[in-house]
Amino acid sequence: MRFLRGFNSLLLVSLSIVLASPVRAQATGIAATPPMGWNSWNHFHNKVDDATIRAQAEAMVSSGMRDAGYTYVNIDDTWEGERDGTGVIHSNSKFPDMKALADFVHSKGLKIGIYSSPGPKTCAKYEGSYGHELQDAQTYAAWGIDYLKYDLCGLREQMKAAPSPEAAHKIMVDAYIKMRDALRSTGRPIVYSLCQYGNDAVWEWGANVGGNLWRTTGDINDHYASMEAIGFGQAGLARFAGPGHWNDPDMLEVGNGGLTETESRSHFSLWAILAAPLIAGNDLRDMRPEIHDILANKEVIAVDQDTLGRQGRRVWKNGDLEVWSKQMKDGSRAVILLNRGSAEQEINVNWEDLGYPTHFNADVRDLWQHKYLGKFTGKFSAPVVSHGVVMVAVRP
Ligand code: GLA
Repeated sequence: MRFLRGFNSLLLVSLSIVLASPVRAQATGIAATPPMGWNSWNHFHNKVDDATIRAQAEAMVSSGMRDAGYTYVNIDDTWEGERDGTGVIHSNSKFPDMKALADFVHSKGLKIGIYSSPGPKTCAKYEGSYGHELQDAQTYAAWGIDYLKYDLCGLREQMKAAPSPEAAHKIMVDAYIKMRDALRSTGRPIVYSLCQYGNDAVWEWGANVGGNLWRTTGDINDHYASMEAIGFGQAGLARFAGPGHWNDPDMLEVGNGGLTETESRSHFSLWAILAAPLIAGNDLRDMRPEIHDILANKEVIAVDQDTLGRQGRRVWKNGDLEVWSKQMKDGSRAVILLNRGSAEQEINVNWEDLGYPTHFNADVRDLWQHKYLGKFTGKFSAPVVSHGVVMVAVRP
């Protein structure tokens, strides 16, 4: 009897652990590390079509991006056409045959993503999934889609009409759950990317509605100030991310022309430290070698893709100078020294700030110069140019 009571309480405890832990990814193993790929929006906006997607997929392979880890080729807004008499969505004339396009992308060893909204209309005023969630999920699965970005947009009208903020919140959460369930019911593993600009602290509930990633911010622009505000604004969100469920500070602007090379390295380094999805947003057919070398820097990508899945944190800040650190699976730390100011400055990082004892002797390797810098005790320091970064691996 006592044994049974013990067993029962054990059962209760395990049950409550199961119930309390957030429902995770669509399917196990999906987005175990932050998704990597490319998306049409930042560069092409509404000027995207079948030929563009095919060319980007080809360039992803020929540029070596695929081999560096980029996998998803994602079509953003403006692919949507009309629904037929039975409510089935069709692509518009820019995308004559979505299934054929998906087959082509798959034939390159890549995966394909698509975009929709839980509202009646998308942000670009194309057809959304409202009232057709299951049908759309089935259509995507039949086409062979591997990733869905689900962008709140049109649903905001209904949320505005709700009697209270709580009621508005429920409309949104229910809509995300509805598509989660629809995607799951297809049996196809589809990465579920929530896009609602970080409202209502989505990081607190995004995983519970099945999100593999959720945008934490409004849209990024191709300017340093935008990248800076978003990137550095991620402080405090680390504990919400992990394998299968990531904070998404939006897609990359590297290679779109608005950031200097120095700023692009800071952007890419910060996103890697944040364990952010690395979704390139430039024209992959037209990359200067310097841009390629940023996006395909395998040492930096390895930081982002570390299987521990720990998002990095800001560990030190003094005015314009910041140090962020990410714990890696092997116990080492990836560290970035960033200078947001307008003149070069020396930045120092103490081992204590990385969670190491001061007496530790650690190997330091520069992940942009691809160079071993030597053994350091207690601290490391380096000059960092304006808007620049020094990124190192610290290995005791
Ligand atoms: C919103 C999203 C962007 C993009 C556009 C498309 O603004 O945040 O990332 O998808 O919609 O219309």
